[in-house]
Amino acid sequence: MLMCGIMGYVGPQSIAEVLLGGLKRLEYRGYDSAGIALGTARGIHLAKRAGPLRVLEDEVARNPPPPASIGIGHTRWATHGGVTDQNAHPHLDCEGRIAVVHNGIIENAAALREELSARGHVLRSETDSELIAHLLEEAEGDLLHRLQAVAGRCEGAYALLAFDLRDGNHMCAVRRTSPIAIGYTDSEVFVASGAIALAPWLSRCIYLDDGEIADLWPGRVDVFRLEDLAPVRKVGHEISDSGDLPDSGHHRNFYVKELFEQPAAWRSVMRGRLGDADAVDLTDAGLTEGALRSVKRVQFLAMGSSLHASQMATERLLEFAQIPAAADLASEFRDTRSFLEPGTLAVAVSQSGETIDTLTALRHAQSLGARVLGLVNAPGSTIARESDFVFDLRAGTEISVASTKAFTTQAVALDLLVSALAAAHGRGYDPDHLAALRAAPIIAEDFLAEFLLPDDLVERCAKAPGVIFLGRGQDVSLAREGSLKLKELSYIWSEAFAAGELKHGPLALVDDRVPVIVCSTDPRHTTKLSSSLSEAVARGAYGVSVGADLRGTLHIGLPIQDATAAYLIGALPLQLLAVTVAEARGCSVDQPRNLAKSVTVE
Ligand code: AGP
Repeated sequence: MLMCGIMGYVGPQSIAEVLLGGLKRLEYRGYDSAGIALGTARGIHLAKRAGPLRVLEDEVARNPPPPASIGIGHTRWATHGGVTDQNAHPHLDCEGRIAVVHNGIIENAAALREELSARGHVLRSETDSELIAHLLEEAEGDLLHRLQAVAGRCEGAYALLAFDLRDGNHMCAVRRTSPIAIGYTDSEVFVASGAIALAPWLSRCIYLDDGEIADLWPGRVDVFRLEDLAPVRKVGHEISDSGDLPDSGHHRNFYVKELFEQPAAWRSVMRGRLGDADAVDLTDAGLTEGALRSVKRVQFLAMGSSLHASQMATERLLEFAQIPAAADLASEFRDTRSFLEPGTLAVAVSQSGETIDTLTALRHAQSLGARVLGLVNAPGSTIARESDFVFDLRAGTEISVASTKAFTTQAVALDLLVSALAAAHGRGYDPDHLAALRAAPIIAEDFLAEFLLPDDLVERCAKAPGVIFLGRGQDVSLAREGSLKLKELSYIWSEAFAAGELKHGPLALVDDRVPVIVCSTDPRHTTKLSSSLSEAVARGAYGVSVGADLRGTLHIGLPIQDATAAYLIGALPLQLLAVTVAEARGCSVDQPRNLAKSVTVE
């Protein structure tokens, strides 16, 4: 499963408390059931519940577990098998002495299930993950050797954590694709699927890399290569998150909190990179003048909102920097590209730094000879660790599944990259453009303090069978982002098109129930966008323009002329529209149905 959370602990503290505390910090990533398994003198104590973590917490409070010294926990996002108590992790072997949690998907699960059933194993769930416990039961040797053997039998992606009551007070973890962070003190060891879960107890951790297996003892962690158990030396990383539980403060949810944090996040990404001088300095990312000059082409690889920011940057590289560039859905890149031109810089754009599609595309780009720049909001993430250059977004943790500040901060970061590349290729800096970027945070603050979304627009969208977003040039990507936000948060069918496409098909969707929202932040496209909006309004549409006044039914003005900054400010009303419509429809804002924050399965 994706996106599931893993937590493990061996040590003297209350095991259940540590596990539940860690899982709570991973909760925002999205899940549908949770469970813990504790190693006690009387066997493994198992508690698993479908539903939110608080259901499991209530269960643990009602039936306090016996004293334990080892335990593993999990939040599950269902893939194989429905959302039931039985399918929740951890899973046990037939004898109930081995406990396993798993993130990822075992692709040969059907064959393994058949084999194990034929050999008499009693399978209690519909999951692929339970099979691991039974495979471990059959394997020989100590837990480390057994896990190594079992990993060799599993195809697909996984992070696995297991303990065996008969094998002493330790756990073993193995990684193929899905992340694992590990830390320890003199008397304890912790493991989790994200460093954020370790933050209350530790300030440093190590990350397992693909093809590594670890033996985790209180006070000691040994990491080996999975293939031959050769020891691996690991480098420690700082855990940047505070140990505090994420808190939305006075805001009604994390989405709104993060939406209002955007000006601060833009300042943060510019700090030290764009000063008063009209120049951009990206040496902290390893992008020296020489490195920038050697870039002949740029290939962006990203998904979702990160792709939209990349599409905006592609437009600007092509137009202003005159550097060939393309932005591909990372999930398609591996299957469709068998070559990259020499001198290509692949830019993997990912808030989480763990998106499997983007990671896989990054590796493919490297295999085709490209150097990779990782633009991430998590400098310890897998994408950061595997990139040749790392551009740290510094937007602060984003909790809401639907991205706000990460998206616009990526747009700022990519704009800095475009400017630096243009300058390194002899096109100089555009002082007006840089001034507009510097001014954007204060303009956004004023806008957010004063802007009121028209009720009529919210009501129209909340009742609409669908909403269409249009744009031209950079506004195509803004329209896509507006549409993505609306569908993620409010579950309203929505699509974005380049305005030029309208008459070639999408216009057939337009009637008086369908709002058409035209993004118009680049003055060069005003006339053509105005025609598109008129065509929609003539068919009865409720026509909205964001940016230039295109003389539709409703106009949302932006307090800025420069197209760069207008793009950033233009995202704000679209983000606000999505949350207001979602709230009007009673949708869960921070954790939309079926979605998870970090998509770690293809
Ligand atoms: C954005 O609102 C989405 N939740 C989603 O599309 C996201 O942008 C995408 O999954 C990519 O995530 P990443 O930036 O962490 O790689």
